[in-house]
Amino acid sequence: MDKIVIDGGRPLTGQVRIGGAKNAALPILIATLVAPGEHRIGNVPDLVDVSSMLSLLGRIGCPSLVHQGHVRLDTSRVSFCEAPYDLVRKMRASVLALGPLLARCGEAHVSLPGGCAIGVRPIDQHLKGLELLGARFELSGGYVHGYVDQLVGARIPLDVPTVTGTENILMATVVAKGESVIENAAREPEIVDLAGFLRGMGAKIEGEGTSTIRVQGVDNLRPSPNTWNVLPDRIEAGTYLVAGAITGGDLTITHVRPDDLRPVLEALRAAGCTLEVNADTVRVRRKGPLQPIDITTEPHPGFPTDMQAQLMALSCFAEGTSTIRETIFENRFMHVPELTRLGADIAIHGNTATVTGVSGLRGATVMATDLRASASLVLAGLAAQGQTEVLRLYHLDRGYERLVEKLSDVGATVARVPDDPRVRMFAPSPDLVAKTAAS
Ligand code: EPZ
Repeated sequence: MDKIVIDGGRPLTGQVRIGGAKNAALPILIATLVAPGEHRIGNVPDLVDVSSMLSLLGRIGCPSLVHQGHVRLDTSRVSFCEAPYDLVRKMRASVLALGPLLARCGEAHVSLPGGCAIGVRPIDQHLKGLELLGARFELSGGYVHGYVDQLVGARIPLDVPTVTGTENILMATVVAKGESVIENAAREPEIVDLAGFLRGMGAKIEGEGTSTIRVQGVDNLRPSPNTWNVLPDRIEAGTYLVAGAITGGDLTITHVRPDDLRPVLEALRAAGCTLEVNADTVRVRRKGPLQPIDITTEPHPGFPTDMQAQLMALSCFAEGTSTIRETIFENRFMHVPELTRLGADIAIHGNTATVTGVSGLRGATVMATDLRASASLVLAGLAAQGQTEVLRLYHLDRGYERLVEKLSDVGATVARVPDDPRVRMFAPSPDLVAKTAAS
């Protein structure tokens, strides 16, 4: 198991190129099942979750070739209609196989994803929507077994605007007989990207990005002759903007869509940052002290829950008290006790964290618990005095491509090393750690 060792206190300066969005690449890759043939998808990030999704597709009988973010995926043949436990337990987004497998094969056997560090993560809305389209489900042996003779269009009122639930249902409606209307649909940019990809195959979709998505089912979808490039990752983008802000640097992120980042940009301005926003770049600087912020996570276009931990790390350094309310997941404050180990002053009452800014944090060994909590610990370590070690790096590998290289390229003193407890005890300097790793 690897860890990251950071020598904090250095302002980050320069440019970071942002990659394709993990949470768009995952549904787009599995959506290829609804159109037999060879698909070409570009700007796919090199992440553990993407590899897991391609492994799942390979198990189903769909081979892929990946070269520098470009994926060629052949879904001409489907041999198995199953997403097995050993893959689903590593990547809960495998549940996205339900809709496409029902659409393609008329059956689907998907391991229940189970909960994770941030919450129970139920899939009742996924099943409700697919049942309204004519599917029937049995739960047994930890699997969801789904069957359908013919998907038939329906009105699908969602109780919550679930992101992957909307995506699962959307991928089934495109080949259902007749019209479907998804109400209270999630509005995330990743759903808009998926809809664009499906439209490229011949799907008839309107209203993506709003709460009501209308679909006219078609009999046969074919792969688009063109390459679909996945949209930029707004959460990776926001994370690096916070890295520039928290270290008091001057950082520009490139290949981004600023419109997808609006609530994060507003929060950074409220925190006292100066932003220069252009067509596909954002520059962040900070001259004076950080100001306290008040944020509440909401479904898009509100403030994204996937940026909550990162803004909390920033608020630890503010001159004043910040309030952070998490309304999407029931347990998304796992980073708080770890930030406290670095000297942060955070009190939790229910779904609200009150962060009292301190003059600085001091490095320590901290434990990553989930993807975005890990990012917040790296951000805090970049600004803390002294050395910080973030353990259980596999969480970060799921969602951040080449994190250590990208941070090093803009001036961070950071190394990725095997987590050898003997080395950890003596809190060595990063160059000693790097020498140990090299030996
Ligand atoms: C997606 O998860 C993202 N994952 C998450 O990103 C993100 O945090 C989340 O949306 C919210 O934006 C992917 O896109 C792969 P939800 P998802 O269903 O779809 C409740 C990351 O860090 N709910 O929108 O699983 C649920 O309990 C990950 O990249 C039901 O009650 O989230 C939660 O409270 C973490 N029933 C709320 O809805 C359901 O059937 C939102 O969950 C489904 C969800």
